Amino acid sequence: MRQLIVAANWKMNLTRQEGIALISEVVPMVRDQVHTKVKVVLCVPFPFIGFAKRFFQSQKNIALGAQNCYYKPAGAYTGEISAPMLKSFDVDYVIIGHSERRQYFGETEEVLAEKVRQVIANQMHPIFCCGESLQTRQSGYHINFVRQQLSQSLFHLSAEDFAKVVIAYEPIWAIGTGHNATAQQAQEMHFALRQHIASVYGQEIAQQTTILYGGSCNANNAPEIFACPDVDGGLIGGASLKSSEFTNICKSFPLYKLIAD
Ligand code: 13P
Repeated sequence: MRQLIVAANWKMNLTRQEGIALISEVVPMVRDQVHTKVKVVLCVPFPFIGFAKRFFQSQKNIALGAQNCYYKPAGAYTGEISAPMLKSFDVDYVIIGHSERRQYFGETEEVLAEKVRQVIANQMHPIFCCGESLQTRQSGYHINFVRQQLSQSLFHLSAEDFAKVVIAYEPIWAIGTGHNATAQQAQEMHFALRQHIASVYGQEIAQQTTILYGGSCNANNAPEIFACPDVDGGLIGGASLKSSEFTNICKSFPLYKLIAD
């Protein structure tokens, strides 16, 4: 019913040679071991985008992703990468609003709304990241906080465009810390976000929206997290840099999700 996705976010890791080695391992593992209902998205660093696709040209359930793009389509913006450029390299998914970009590069909800617009205007799918800090969670305001992130950066979209968005809930306190959200915490937030989407776009679109979990997700905890009814896969950082660990995460969906229509 909903597209199941496991997306790798390699972040700013690996040299060209190391990237080629990893992708050469991951692609055949995914082909041989991962259910075809699971879409695997490899969000590689920009310099790898030109060659990465060659490794999985004929494999329908692997897609190419980028980790960011600029919010303008072209022009004198030295060092930036546009959505039309990414599209011209067969990129299908673009991570937008990762907490590291919000934190270290000062990306605001307004800028993210523009980036989302750019990605969709170029026929790609934004993987929109949201999530609260530890302080916000401890204040008990976390659900409202994350709802607001969606309202501010996504709810300007038409229903038709919103249907192209993938959401990734990534609590900041879980990213790279080894402290993943529990399955209950993930389910509670994913359910709340789905209801929030339904309040604006209706239940049908909300039920079709893929919502991923990210934050210290690994092959040990993925089965329990992916078993939650409102979790449709993961956005994987550190564990995506190890081919067999990543493949095992891609294999962590319960059977009932794989055989659903
Ligand atoms: P880790 O899986 O390393 O915690 O990172 C998660 C993440 O930020 C993915 O975008």
